[in-house]
Amino acid sequence: MKSVFQSGLLAGKGALVTGGGSGIGAGLAKRLAEQGAKVMLIGRTQEKLDTIAKEITEAGGVAKTFACDVRKYDLVEKAIAETASSFGSLDVLVNSAAGNFLSPAATLSANGFRAVIDIDLCGTFNASRAAFEALSASRGSIVNITATQAHVATPLQCHAGAAKAGIEKLTRDLALEWGRFGIRVNAIAPGPIEGTEGMSRLAPGDAESSLKKRVPLGRYGTIFEIAESLTYLVSPAGAYITGATLLIDGGTSLLGPGPFLDMMGM
Ligand code: HXC
Ligand code: NAP
Repeated sequence: MKSVFQSGLLAGKGALVTGGGSGIGAGLAKRLAEQGAKVMLIGRTQEKLDTIAKEITEAGGVAKTFACDVRKYDLVEKAIAETASSFGSLDVLVNSAAGNFLSPAATLSANGFRAVIDIDLCGTFNASRAAFEALSASRGSIVNITATQAHVATPLQCHAGAAKAGIEKLTRDLALEWGRFGIRVNAIAPGPIEGTEGMSRLAPGDAESSLKKRVPLGRYGTIFEIAESLTYLVSPAGAYITGATLLIDGGTSLLGPGPFLDMMGM
């Protein structure tokens, strides 16, 4: 009998997830593997990648790792080439690698601003550009992980918000240019997600319970909920979707920056 890994929606596909060593990226990689995809995990820390790859392989899936910084185009190109050659094709690219911290714009250094833009926005371009040939060969798809801060003015987040706004624009521009090559390009904008590094940086300690009370759906989202949306976008169910950003935030962005102003003591 075929295992769930061999008979899933993505059986036989090759996938690469940047930021796949932790948090949302790790959850997305695991779900892709459960759907049958062979998954390459990218991040800077080999131990984190190894832990997730082990969890995937012990559960019956296929995972490999390639430790690199998404800011280094040559290394990202090698990771893509290794994915396509090891797995036979690259069908799905997920850009989830990101860096963030709270900082007032008035004291943020130029290098601090640049570091976040480089990781989030340039890293997303680097992996997408390096994957173009392989994805056009497979008629594959890209999913970029953005954030509601791309639209909602948010205190202490000008660097990450600008990077995510750039990613959403890049998503639409690449979708327009690459549709004719059979490549779909979409994004997911998660709201606050339970148990992640992102939320521990944005809403540490007591801020978490006060934010949760104000989310229209009354709770943080789960990594699994983000992963199910990824499955939808990359599967045949999403075959006519490109240039879209799927908002999965429990209604948080409907409130504007209010909860963040409270959380951040403003
Ligand atoms: C002010 C800071 C800072 C801080 C770093 N910098 N942390 N400035 N407040 N808390 C400044 C440094 O002083 C330096 O500027 C510049 O940023 C680069 O710092 P490095 O440590 O050299 O950078 P690097 O090693 O490249 O690390 C990148 C990082 C780091 C972003 C700073 O935090 C990181 O690696 N993060 C990865 C994990 C992560 O952030 N996960 C959360 C993603 S979630 P100077 O001028 O001193 O040289 C997320 C949440 C939700 O994104 C979405 C909202 C949009
Ligand atoms: P996370 O666990 O810190 O994930 C980010 C990953 O990116 C880490 O595994 C990190 O590993 C990797 N990374 C960082 N810089 C990198 C670089 N230069 N090169 C390669 N890899 C790098 O955080 P998360 O909260 O799960 O966030 C995942 C994604 O969801 C991000 O795009 C984030 O902006 C987005 N998001 C999160 C939330 C939330 O509620 N958490 C909300 C909206 C959007 P290394 O440090 O080992 O490289």
